[in-house]
Amino acid sequence: MPDIAGNDMKLPPAEDFEAYLHRNENKDLLRFITCGSVDDGKSTLIGRLLYDSRQLFDDQLSALEKDSTHSGSVSDGGLDFSLLVDGLAAEREQGITIDVAYRFFATDKRKFIVADTPGHEQYTRNMATGASTADLAVLLIDARKGVLEQTRRHSFIVSLMGIRDVVLAINKMDLVDFDQKVFDTIVADYRQFAQGLGIRHVTAIPMSARNGDNITGASENTPWYKGEALLPFLETVRIERPEDSLGLRFPVQWVNRPNLDFRGYSGTIAAGLVRKGDTVTVLPGGRTSQVTSIVTQDGELEVAGAGEAVTLTLAHEIDVSRGSVIASGAVPVVAEQAAAHILWMAPEPMLPGRFYELRLHSQSAGVQISEIKHKINVNSLEKLAAKRLELNELGVCNLTLDRPLVFDPYSQNRMMGGFIIVDRLTNATVGCGTLDFALRRDANVHWQQLEVDKQQRAAIKGQKPAMLWFTGLSGAGKSTVASLVEKKLFSLGRHAYVLDGDNIRHGLSRDLGFTDEDRVENIRRAAEAARLFVDAGMIVLVSFISPFRSERQMARGLVAPGEFVEVYVSTPQSECEKRDPKGLYAKARAGDLPHFTGLDSKYEPPENAEIVLDTCAKDPETLSNEVIAYLREQGII
Ligand code: ADX
Repeated sequence: MPDIAGNDMKLPPAEDFEAYLHRNENKDLLRFITCGSVDDGKSTLIGRLLYDSRQLFDDQLSALEKDSTHSGSVSDGGLDFSLLVDGLAAEREQGITIDVAYRFFATDKRKFIVADTPGHEQYTRNMATGASTADLAVLLIDARKGVLEQTRRHSFIVSLMGIRDVVLAINKMDLVDFDQKVFDTIVADYRQFAQGLGIRHVTAIPMSARNGDNITGASENTPWYKGEALLPFLETVRIERPEDSLGLRFPVQWVNRPNLDFRGYSGTIAAGLVRKGDTVTVLPGGRTSQVTSIVTQDGELEVAGAGEAVTLTLAHEIDVSRGSVIASGAVPVVAEQAAAHILWMAPEPMLPGRFYELRLHSQSAGVQISEIKHKINVNSLEKLAAKRLELNELGVCNLTLDRPLVFDPYSQNRMMGGFIIVDRLTNATVGCGTLDFALRRDANVHWQQLEVDKQQRAAIKGQKPAMLWFTGLSGAGKSTVASLVEKKLFSLGRHAYVLDGDNIRHGLSRDLGFTDEDRVENIRRAAEAARLFVDAGMIVLVSFISPFRSERQMARGLVAPGEFVEVYVSTPQSECEKRDPKGLYAKARAGDLPHFTGLDSKYEPPENAEIVLDTCAKDPETLSNEVIAYLREQGII
């Protein structure tokens, strides 16, 4: 099952988990996350839960015994439980846990999946990943230290990821003589803080993971504590899931059409129930129909619920495709603009205006972060102004999508409100987020449908519309060639226009500088303006450094296939620097011009440009003729 980061969950090493679940169908499942740092005794706690519930696998157990002898660490029975959990060699050497590990154990009453994540600040993304699939969090606190900054950080992330139930495991009580006052002070401290985060239930348990106090049974050392020990609590706690009160949410994964007589929609029910005969709405379109059958591998069902993989058939022929959502009850939101929390997970920063891909269940859409309202310092919970998000930073943002997205706010439904962001060039997961609400302005802005289309406008000029995108270093010769091409087109009676970086920066982009995010925004504006020229039926020559592949790809996506022509004005930097027509290289070398392209700001050359112009081998006249020849070949002129 994929988690929010799109990774497949790691299954326990020594067992086929699916087979295990199958054998134990009658037991229900609790997923929880443990948060704490190395020193809080988290690994010891998990190790003990695994050990005491007798769900250790033989090979894990013998490895543990061997390791305990080697490490010389002490724990009762001679086993160091933390070794069981700190599985990786590198972790052991550093004494820290890195990454998310999923483990499972079971008792007679329940099965458990534990997401174990490190507590260190730089691993916020791991914790968010682990928390996104958990029902409850066990937060470890060292009784000697009380509520620390990291406790607040963990609580915040946990609440952000939709967890409403927290167990406050106040550990190492043996080191404070099982003093009730210490316990009470920590609990009071924490409750006050948790209230503000929307954590509904806080259950505090005094314990010593090392010695086993209040882990599986009541400890004699805490006669003043009347609550349950950790394991019995976890075995019986009931988790409220807000999505249970929503109607059906069935994201269609694929349309199943084996022959002309059968058309079904397959997927896994994300929330709610579906019964034969139910009236459902298909989104984003909004048409309604009735469910005529619920088909599974084992035959037809009368009713099916969350988590089940089914194929639905409907009474009417309506437009349903991958990414459609079949819903009932209060239907989900359909919007092209939304507010969201985004956690950035990539070393490359998130730049507003850049086009990424958003994936939510089986839906995917192009997305731009149109505005970062603020970022949140997860340590102090302070709101800070931001122009970009760096690795592990969390921002409250407005999103603009290139098609309608069907979702529920994350607080109501994690499956239909949590998303990941994927880099369109590398396909790597670069962020994750939670949708907060649709932006109302969405419903009020429509594309104005005009009476005349671009083909008609272009036809009266005897041309096809096109966007010629000139990219290259400063001083490469982009503008020189572009204006020669414009001149030639003019003399051929064609209608062309040059949008030039230097000129646009005097007006439309007057407010922008040369940081990465400003360049992204500059190119976004240029591309949008150029798109309008294409729509006007013109041949627009866009001449910008446009250093990033991602934005050039975005520009390509704004027009129809064949209308975008990338022209790489390929001049080595040494040559540009020698020519230095505006004296800018000299200035930059002298330290007077920061973020200069090719020096301390990067340039990503095109990989598949339609035209490559070698300015060292040929003069501008020849090069402009090459462009004109290409336009003729393609039937643009
Ligand atoms: S882009 O990177 O956002 O595409 P653009 O093409 O608009 O850049 O502007 C580049 C022009 O701005 C250059 O030709 C140069 O004249 C000028 N310029 C001023 N500062 C810089 C800088 N730091 N890096 C690159 N060009 C700069």
